[in-house]
Amino acid sequence: MRTLIRGGTVVNATGPVVADVLITGETIGAVTEPGLITVADEEVDATGKYVIPGGIDAHTHMEMPFGGTYSSDTFATGTTAAAWGGTTTIIDFAVQKKGTSLLATLDAWHEKADGHCAVDYGFHMIVADVDDQSLKEMQSCIDQGVNSFKMFMAYPGVFYATDGEILRAMQRATETGALIMMHAENGIAIDELVAEALAAGHIDPVQHGLTRPPELEGEATSRAIQLARVTGAPLYIVHLSARHALEAVAEARDTGQNVFAETCPQYLYLSLDDLAKPDFEGAKYVASPPLRTKDHQQDLWRGLRTNDLSVVSTDHCPFCFKDQKELGRSDFSKIPNGMPGVEHRMDLLHQGVVAGEISPARWVEIASTTPARMFGLYPRKGVIAPGADADVVVYDPNAKQTISAATHHMNVDYSAYEGMEITGKVDVVFSRGTKVIADGAFHGKEGHGRFLSRELSQYLL
Ligand code: URP
Ligand code: ZN
Ligand code: ZN
Repeated sequence: MRTLIRGGTVVNATGPVVADVLITGETIGAVTEPGLITVADEEVDATGKYVIPGGIDAHTHMEMPFGGTYSSDTFATGTTAAAWGGTTTIIDFAVQKKGTSLLATLDAWHEKADGHCAVDYGFHMIVADVDDQSLKEMQSCIDQGVNSFKMFMAYPGVFYATDGEILRAMQRATETGALIMMHAENGIAIDELVAEALAAGHIDPVQHGLTRPPELEGEATSRAIQLARVTGAPLYIVHLSARHALEAVAEARDTGQNVFAETCPQYLYLSLDDLAKPDFEGAKYVASPPLRTKDHQQDLWRGLRTNDLSVVSTDHCPFCFKDQKELGRSDFSKIPNGMPGVEHRMDLLHQGVVAGEISPARWVEIASTTPARMFGLYPRKGVIAPGADADVVVYDPNAKQTISAATHHMNVDYSAYEGMEITGKVDVVFSRGTKVIADGAFHGKEGHGRFLSRELSQYLL
């Protein structure tokens, strides 16, 4: 099967060029000057549109256990929603439960995902138990293509790791070439602030933000950076939300340390004001780290331009407002942490292009190319070039759409961006050469997505 995408502007991280793209089977066969190829089984007219590599969302949580419930997207629904939004690869987190081995955890996550995904997927591993067995099993995970390990400085009693445990895991990462991903918030101090707030009768969702101040994200980020420096381990800060943390990352990078960071669309567009919405509406916006005051947003956009923030992922972790967020109606600390977003990352970041915050090439770089390199998928993913997987999105930069729970495809009963008007829209999506979105319909199927055994991070070789 040969499909010719004709007349579009191919946007790679290196810049835009008007070119035709030939898909041959599952891969890209050629990128040529317009009109050179005349014979194909099917043609897509991309005149006036961008042709970009499929988005890579390197931070999702499908069916994730949290606070006595599970995030509401399955691997089937979540990856279908991803496809609708032009994301053709997700990297989800397998979650170690204390007392369970890393390898058993990985098996369990394969069981959940294999045969169900609509687009390709890989795994990171959340390490909740740092003991000799887990440290040993890190190598076995790496051998199975899972080489990034998330640790938590937050959530004491659940995922929290002590500084000593983090140090040991980082030493192991240095030995093995693994990447440590860090949830950097000072959970011990936060838990004190939460207890104080509750004791004072402050139960509303906004308290989630007030008890997790940006200073405690900055402090934890700095501490993680120093631990990484001492051990020589590379470090990837997940879901960075605050200027305080960004400053610590920038300083480390300026002194040559292998420190990387991602932010998420919610920190670029939403704020503490959303958490403060009345009638428990704020619960829709409870995620950790919390949404910050608006003044942080310009710093995050600047970080994206300077590459101190090199990736934008969603941290997609949806919980329904009606049945799940409700768990915290009388105690904000019981609201399941997480927000939906996998479907709208490419569109939301495109608003940064429209507003002149980033160029089209930078859009592609932070949403696809860098995640591919960071997590060992490049050049199979993250680029429109001969030999790459034909994960291709035809994106109309001028189309208009309005985000709404009534029209989205994520399995969650609200949108964090309800009513937001977007310039730009996914037109056609190919996943490994299969047309999965076209003519406003989903043509893919559950199980089309394959597990991606990843190489080590290409920023560390
Ligand atoms: O609130 C969040 N971010 N939920 C998902 C789990 C995590 O910490 O990434
Ligand atoms: Zn986290
Ligand atoms: Zn997360």
